[in-house]
Amino acid sequence: MTLRSSGPAVLISRLLPEPAVALARSRAEVDAYDVDAAMPRPDLLERLQGKQGLICVISEAVDQALLDASPELRVVSNVAVGYNNVDVAACTKRGVVVTNTPDVLTDTTADFAWTLLMATARRVVEADRYVRDGRFEQWEYMVLLGGDIHGKTLGVVGFGRIGRAMARRARGFGMRVLYQDAVAADAATEHELNATRVDLATLLRESDFVTLHTPLIPETRHLINADSLKTMKKTAYLINAARGPVVDEGALVSALKEGRIAGAGLDVFEGEPRVHPGLVELSNVVLAPHIASGSLETRLKMATLAVENCLAVLEGKTPPTPVNPEVLSRR
Ligand code: 8YV
Repeated sequence: MTLRSSGPAVLISRLLPEPAVALARSRAEVDAYDVDAAMPRPDLLERLQGKQGLICVISEAVDQALLDASPELRVVSNVAVGYNNVDVAACTKRGVVVTNTPDVLTDTTADFAWTLLMATARRVVEADRYVRDGRFEQWEYMVLLGGDIHGKTLGVVGFGRIGRAMARRARGFGMRVLYQDAVAADAATEHELNATRVDLATLLRESDFVTLHTPLIPETRHLINADSLKTMKKTAYLINAARGPVVDEGALVSALKEGRIAGAGLDVFEGEPRVHPGLVELSNVVLAPHIASGSLETRLKMATLAVENCLAVLEGKTPPTPVNPEVLSRR
């Protein structure tokens, strides 16, 4: 005899913080992958059988093939603010609700992007290595000189929640803020953040730090390429804690090697987890393994919000942060 559960069936495709998994288990029948690695695709498709909910991270491609193989699926709850791994149009067509985790990670992500900015300009990783290698034999006046941050111009590409959080941090450093976005911020926000909207060419030309906070969409793929890198100041730094493919990594490596910009701080990569070998060789680059939202508190908040989103949909309620709310009105 098959025992049937009364709650909905949910697949959690990645190791998540225990309190969030416990919340899911309290209201659903949960199949949780307890490994912190991408679930092999055949296993993912097999374990999705009979599931109405999927709680996943950006390494899972939620595409037409996955939807075709999972006819009972009603909600895809991405544990991320970005959802370029999800074919939202295909989900919407099939009546599958997609949710993400905005807001809870804004400040943590901006904190880390700011950390990358400072670490890159002030050569923190090189300095650490210098000391560990036993090279600090005497104090030197001209050693490891970096670029100033205070009083400089910050160029924010993508002026959403995280971009604005960067602008807020820049105020404490007495910086001028330029931003580029398809949509202008309202006058009060521009005033509060001391930010001026300009076109991308102006931003690249005038900024000492260019920080990327756009979603990955067709229009932003390789937004930073050989041509745009040529227009940046030779003393400027590029920071990317958004999505790797926003930058043409090959062009960035050439620009860094040829001294066309001063340095780069990167949390994301075009083909991650693969990193362009040219980047690894360069000392004026600070690299991180996509950890901008990675504080203990925020990763718990993200996972909890993802579980709440998933359960709400399966219980016929409105999820806190839907990506395609039009599906909800069709229910
Ligand atoms: C996540 C992110 O850690 O939220 C996003 O869009 O890139 C990161 O905060 C990652 O995507 C987990 O899925």
